[in-house]
Amino acid sequence: MNKATEKNFEHAPVLLVEVLEALNIKPDGVYVDGTFGRGGHARAILEKLGPTGQLIGLDKDPQAIKAGEALVKQDERFSIERGSFTMLQTVIRNRGLEGRVDGLLLDLGVSSPQLDDPSRGFSFINDGPLDMRMDNENGLSAAKWIASAREREISQVLFDFGEERYGKRIARAICRAREEQEITTTLQLAKIISDANPSHEKHKHPATRSFQAIRIFLNKELDEVSSVLEQSMSVLAKGGRLAVISFHSLEDRIAKRFIRKQVKGDDLPRHLPVTVDALNQKFKSIGKAIRAGEEELSVNPRARSATLRVAEKL
Ligand SMILES: C[S@@+](CC[C@H](N)C(=O)[O-])C[C@H]1O[C@@H](n2cnc3c(N)ncnc32)[C@H](O)[C@@H]1O
Repeated sequence: MNKATEKNFEHAPVLLVEVLEALNIKPDGVYVDGTFGRGGHARAILEKLGPTGQLIGLDKDPQAIKAGEALVKQDERFSIERGSFTMLQTVIRNRGLEGRVDGLLLDLGVSSPQLDDPSRGFSFINDGPLDMRMDNENGLSAAKWIASAREREISQVLFDFGEERYGKRIARAICRAREEQEITTTLQLAKIISDANPSHEKHKHPATRSFQAIRIFLNKELDEVSSVLEQSMSVLAKGGRLAVISFHSLEDRIAKRFIRKQVKGDDLPRHLPVTVDALNQKFKSIGKAIRAGEEELSVNPRARSATLRVAEKL
């Protein structure tokens, strides 16, 4: 890949100022970036850290890991591990850092390079092989899943993960089309979906919801977010910060409910007089949900759907 092409696949970190503030960075602290991507947030965190601070990055995307390994060579305070952020607790335990992490950042979903590089198969605008795996060296590609899934399963996925109300119609169209010809490219699938989708949502390509749904399903995105949030409780130190950026309502709902539940503590019978300790509260919420301001939106339209939620470990 030449320099010019690489440049097109850069990722602008969203809500950068707000994330740094949310993490409340201590120069000698231990931080985890669970979604390294191209390291936009990571580099800014490193700038705030002193010589004894450390940052551990995770990502399941081999190209993100390559970018991370280049940063490891430049900065000895940084290290990176390849894999899902669901291995958070194991990674932290293996390093003897359980209960000692001062901040965990999760900038969820796909990166701009994943979306913009047609060869990754996420794009319904530019043609590429129908893939959609964040870790494109393991697991089932979208093409393989589309070729073998039952119509009912497809419509369920479109409904559950894309809130696509025409999921049944679209699933039927996909199953009919695959009988005629194997569906192997993103534009082939985008056209089948667009032709079958009677709704025209403003500013939304008719395949947006379906592509989002298939991507979330194949990458097990929602289950993995729930798992890493649960794990955050044992890795974070007292006073440690959790910062979660989500890009759609399904993801944001999980973060919002998790924080609300841990702020509230255990469900105890209402009539019992209880002490605060007995409630077993794990987090306190820091501020309200944060959205990008006009200034950021004017330079990075992808920040439009971003919501940052912040909590502090008690
Ligand atoms: C929005 S991007 C993060 C961009 C990053 N903050 C930056 O500034 O460059 C999301 C990244 O998280 C990774 N990712 C998403 N879900 C993941 C998971 N369950 N485990 C590990 N990495 C994941 C994706 O591969 C992608 O590189």
